[in-house]
Amino acid sequence: MTRTRRTFDTRGIAFGCDYNPEQWGPEVWDEDIALMIEAGVDLVAINIFGWSHLEPHRGEYRFDRLDDIMDRLAADGIGVNLGTGTASTPAWLTREHPDLLPMAVDGTRRYPGGRQAFCPSSPVYREHALRLTAAVAERYGAHPALRLWHVSNEIGCHNALCYCDVSADAFRRWLADRYVDVDTLNAAWGTAFWSQSYGEWEEILPPRATLSSRNPAQLLDFHRFSSDELLGHYRAEADVIRSRSEAPITTNFMVTAHIDNLDYWSWAADMDVVANDHYLDHRLGDPTTELAFAADLSRGLAGGDPWLLMEHSTGAVNWQPLNLAKQPGQMMRNTLTHVARGADGACFFQWRASVQGSEKFHSAMLPHAGTDSAMWRDVVELGGAIERLAEVAGSRVDAAVALVFSWESWWAADGESRPSQALGYLDLVHAAYGALHAEGLTVDVVAPGADLSRYSLVVVPGLHLVREQDAVVLTDWIAAGGTALVTFSSGIVDEDDRVYVGGYGGPFRDALGVRVEEFAPVARETTLTLSDGSTATLWSERSRATTAEVVASFADGPSTGAPAITRNRWGLGEAWYLATLPEPAAYRSLVARLAADAGVRPAAEVDGDAASVDVVRRRGAAASYLFVVNHALVDATVATSGTDLVTGATADGSLVVPAGAVRVVRETPAASTGS
Ligand code: GLA
Repeated sequence: MTRTRRTFDTRGIAFGCDYNPEQWGPEVWDEDIALMIEAGVDLVAINIFGWSHLEPHRGEYRFDRLDDIMDRLAADGIGVNLGTGTASTPAWLTREHPDLLPMAVDGTRRYPGGRQAFCPSSPVYREHALRLTAAVAERYGAHPALRLWHVSNEIGCHNALCYCDVSADAFRRWLADRYVDVDTLNAAWGTAFWSQSYGEWEEILPPRATLSSRNPAQLLDFHRFSSDELLGHYRAEADVIRSRSEAPITTNFMVTAHIDNLDYWSWAADMDVVANDHYLDHRLGDPTTELAFAADLSRGLAGGDPWLLMEHSTGAVNWQPLNLAKQPGQMMRNTLTHVARGADGACFFQWRASVQGSEKFHSAMLPHAGTDSAMWRDVVELGGAIERLAEVAGSRVDAAVALVFSWESWWAADGESRPSQALGYLDLVHAAYGALHAEGLTVDVVAPGADLSRYSLVVVPGLHLVREQDAVVLTDWIAAGGTALVTFSSGIVDEDDRVYVGGYGGPFRDALGVRVEEFAPVARETTLTLSDGSTATLWSERSRATTAEVVASFADGPSTGAPAITRNRWGLGEAWYLATLPEPAAYRSLVARLAADAGVRPAAEVDGDAASVDVVRRRGAAASYLFVVNHALVDATVATSGTDLVTGATADGSLVVPAGAVRVVRETPAASTGS
């Protein structure tokens, strides 16, 4: 499909929120808009959950309230990111068609009363959703407030995997397209195992709950199917809009570590602007590292272009077991971390805190306490800072390091029967990214097989599933002079989840110069010691170096004597291999050594608690901007010269960034080396 991307002009760095005026009467709308203006809000997402308001009964539309709110926003110059309203079905629809309700893995239905209560493959849901989309697009497609279309909402957040009979039919059609005949499917799924061979398409089911573990290749394809099915729905709504409106179209991704159901690499090209929702999750290790990773991955999905942070929170969320409030200054630091890493807009969920419904304890820009609150003052301060960053819009982030990330590897590696349940794909990704981040290196997150020519260092954590042609992109790039670090659990299976035999590492084996014979994971509480005195956890393996130099070996544990860190000359480049999970300080020194070899440096030198200070450079046509986000409790001194857009101060050679503060320096030209 070739389609011209429509441009989303953020007009500076957009600042905004989800706005749900339907939760209040018009008596608060004037106050809402006046306060939005005070805070500098210029983009609001409305009508996200509008369906039952717009179509209270089948075919009977009521647009009066949405008309009113659109007109008020237009009159005050606030742009609208307009939802199609299809994210949550109205009660009349599920009552008429209970068969469109989604089915869980155990065969039980999920009922209305929450949201997203529909099967993604349901033709009935599709028909009604497209009818509503058409009505909304026709009515508002040329409205002066309209800036951006917001298809559905967080597509697949709750209902990505549906196991009903309608989904089963759709899954079989998807499989028939992919494999053409059943024997090819049998070969791809390895159905010779446990007497699982199929004779007819009709015998094939979604991977519903079983007594034992399920066929991993079937699970993998079900993930692919489910992601494609929802993308199909996105495309259907987007097509309806495109023929009725010129405005750019997107939906909000969930590049945050607990959602793994959609392969966003296959979605990104369909977005006129990539948009992401990000919420801190304290269950995922160091929050500032995960925050930076999610922002870098969002930029990766945007192909390096500016992207939009569609949702994050001013304070606590309400859906974690313990919902932590943000520290003083953390909102500013976190929001500007996204901007530093390429976002040209930062929006919150939501404008005014709900007083009813299951999100009434979720933070908002305008909290329950009202404007006489620290939260509101912080919001206004942030809005002011964002306004002063307008000239940054359109600039792009400099990065000389790439990290290869894959949803397919996530699906395949985290299967039901694996070498160690103690280790997940994301643990490997976060550990590698964390080491790079702590070293102050800016990282582009890229897809397997992506062009690597602009990078000096590439890190490949746990790329469990890899296609030969994608592996060749990496090994050829190394041969041409690149430096790469590949970790264990990479190159284990092909796209059918079939093991590469002859030594693990498969298509990376020769370039790495290592042949892995057996996995030997260890318990979480076991510490492994390496020959260089450093320690590691969770993983070891029995292998031998064929052509690689052994940099460190296992000094104890089940793989004593086997290589733990190796380095292999491959063509003009170097292929490093890591056969364990080093403790963080050791991981940092390893990547620091590789970065030094590859000639990669942080965007600026930092004196202070450098590992807790983000330094990222965005480069525009006329100027470059050094973002310094000091997450530390102590002041940092950064080597830079230029004008700080946040405070207006100037720096000549160095700038003190107080503990917890953010500075954005428009650099004087000679200052912007490093990356
Ligand atoms: C998601 C949704 C919002 C809201 C927030 C709460 O991002 O898109 O509607 O539920 O979560 O964190």
